[in-house]
Amino acid sequence: MQNQDQNEKFLKFPNGFLWGAATSSHQVEGGNRNDWSEWEDSELRIKNYELRMKKKFDHDNFVSGAACDSYNHWSDDLECIKKLNLNAYRFSIEWSRIEPEEGKFSEKGMDYYRKIIKDLKANNIIPFITLWHFTTPIWMAKKGGWTSSEINKFFLRYVEKIVTEFKNDVDFWVTFNEPDIYAGFSFLKGEWPPEKKNIFLYCKSLFNLIKVHNDSYLLIKKIDSRAQVGIAKHNIYFEAYENRVINLVLKKFMDWWWNSFIFNRIKKYQDFLGLNHYNHNRINYGFYKNENKIMSDMGWEFYPSSIYFALIDLKKYNKPIYITENGWAESGDVHRLNFIQETLENVHKTIEDGVDVRGYFYWSLLDNFEWARGFEPKFGLCEVNRKTFERKARPSAKVYAEICKNNGFVIE
Ligand code: BGC
Repeated sequence: MQNQDQNEKFLKFPNGFLWGAATSSHQVEGGNRNDWSEWEDSELRIKNYELRMKKKFDHDNFVSGAACDSYNHWSDDLECIKKLNLNAYRFSIEWSRIEPEEGKFSEKGMDYYRKIIKDLKANNIIPFITLWHFTTPIWMAKKGGWTSSEINKFFLRYVEKIVTEFKNDVDFWVTFNEPDIYAGFSFLKGEWPPEKKNIFLYCKSLFNLIKVHNDSYLLIKKIDSRAQVGIAKHNIYFEAYENRVINLVLKKFMDWWWNSFIFNRIKKYQDFLGLNHYNHNRINYGFYKNENKIMSDMGWEFYPSSIYFALIDLKKYNKPIYITENGWAESGDVHRLNFIQETLENVHKTIEDGVDVRGYFYWSLLDNFEWARGFEPKFGLCEVNRKTFERKARPSAKVYAEICKNNGFVIE
């Protein structure tokens, strides 16, 4: 910073900007009993996987099991968070840990999160809490999960319990993580539990999630009027390939359906917008045309500037925006640093262009259980040894830590 030369510029972020990383309960905690853990090595899953992929099911990769064992290694996670100079940490509360049986709340489960919140606060790190990140208790899944009309009352009871308990220490609540991704993978693609391809169930789950979000918003505000409540929404930058008319029409439709539909429906029920952003989609007659050679472990192209367009599109809502997820999966850590820096340059540009971005949460703090893709994709700032559970910061993470400490960085 001190030895900046004439061609260099320091990109300073607004004061109070949240620098964070994110995780979710099922992906890191280990030992969960919910609809996902039930499904992971079920006969149905193995049979469908082997049929679809034409290869043997790999138990070690696809069953979450102990995951990163964050349940027993929270103090190590905290060390990573501190080493990275983060001033905020996004994590989720596991409904099935809090209410393993219908109506019976577990004090042990509450204690686990109580400790996390207490330790974060003691270190001046802001807890940014997600109430549901894709997993549902088994008893609720048996009633139909998100396709059941009953879920509203059960979820609100859980929300009331959590928010009442933690309201003095928590200001930020994300009700749901990516309702659209969940509904799509579970009921359109049929690749996530309960693996039911059914358009009716797809719509039902999506509309339930929207309705329950709105009701949860009102409930949280009633319990704590100062709370900041939002949703973490997966938005994509759609680009019309070569500006062909058909591509432009498809882009318009996708911008409405994928990027705006949910935000429009919860417009009056959010204090901030949570943006999860990973993808750029160059639409070519309904197909995705990737012109980029650099791809992540997920097969996603390297295109950090897409976040600029995703953020500009959210300006119309006139609310603060937190980037609740953004990241790059790559075990070799070759492109991650460029990905982070170029992404942040674009975030900075949107701020200069008048978008009220107030925080950035890199996905993810740790290499974790990447849902139906198992443990293979490595999103972590910190690697996790799956036998010893030792955490080790990757080289790119050390530079991210400097960015967080300096609230910005130098560019040429
Ligand atoms: C989800 C995360 C997931 C990440 C990378 C997001 O859609 O919220 O749980 O690990 O993408 O695929």
